[in-house]
Amino acid sequence: MLNRLFARIRKRPHEKERFSLEGNLPAHLAIIMDGNGRWANRRGLPRFAGHHAGMKRMRQVIRDCDELGIPCLTLYAFSTENWKRPQDEVEYLMRLPEEFFASEIDELVERGVRVRFIGDTSKLPQHTQDIVHRTLERTKDSNGMIVNFALNYGGRAEIVSAAKSFAREVAAGTATWDDLTEERFQQHLSTGSLPDPDLVIRTSGEMRLSNFLIWQAAYAEFWFTDVLWPDFTRDVLEQALREFQGRKRRFGGLK
Ligand code: FPP
Repeated sequence: MLNRLFARIRKRPHEKERFSLEGNLPAHLAIIMDGNGRWANRRGLPRFAGHHAGMKRMRQVIRDCDELGIPCLTLYAFSTENWKRPQDEVEYLMRLPEEFFASEIDELVERGVRVRFIGDTSKLPQHTQDIVHRTLERTKDSNGMIVNFALNYGGRAEIVSAAKSFAREVAAGTATWDDLTEERFQQHLSTGSLPDPDLVIRTSGEMRLSNFLIWQAAYAEFWFTDVLWPDFTRDVLEQALREFQGRKRRFGGLK
């Protein structure tokens, strides 16, 4: 009883902010979390310290999005190209999900967050795969916000995999080539029935998509900031959302 009361009191300031942003929030927000290394360099710290700070920022952004009422958030945590980084950095990044979910899983479950992963998780080290499976299991009955972690994710690889998946249906005789539509193809992507991202944010001043949701972001709005990911505060998030709300989206039409 008291706990519930405290939770309501704690929520109040955010509820006020939620009201001011209400109306046209992205149904799906996708973020390229960039700039961890530079954040660390500027402080004379090793790169992994930047990734650790980035992980802490990620935790806060999930809370912020949940409080703002964003139904789906996808976070680009590790790309298929990130394997090219030095081995010790890759190993560190592969350990972060264990640390993150060990400390966060209870809160995520309490918030009703449904955790999902996109990308080829079968190629991750066994210890990372274990935490992926445990997290999926713990949050499988949640019915709140969806948080999608892109881990060993690459948009081109995803499209190739979707093409193979549809080809297998044809080979098995459960579909013919003529059945292939954009909608049907989309079902074979790892995002499945999730809505396409309405807004893609990239931090750290880089202005490219880097193989992230390249099919799904066909009509997304893009928002770039020089802010480095570990410094991406709630204020910066709200600035992005306000600008998104001011955009005119015509999807190729006139209105
Ligand atoms: C890009 O910054 C960031 C990454 C490749 C890793 C992002 C990962 C996290 C924020 C934490 C993930 C945690 C979990 C639990 C999934 P960069 O290193 O390329 O920065 P730089 O361009 O400044 O060098």
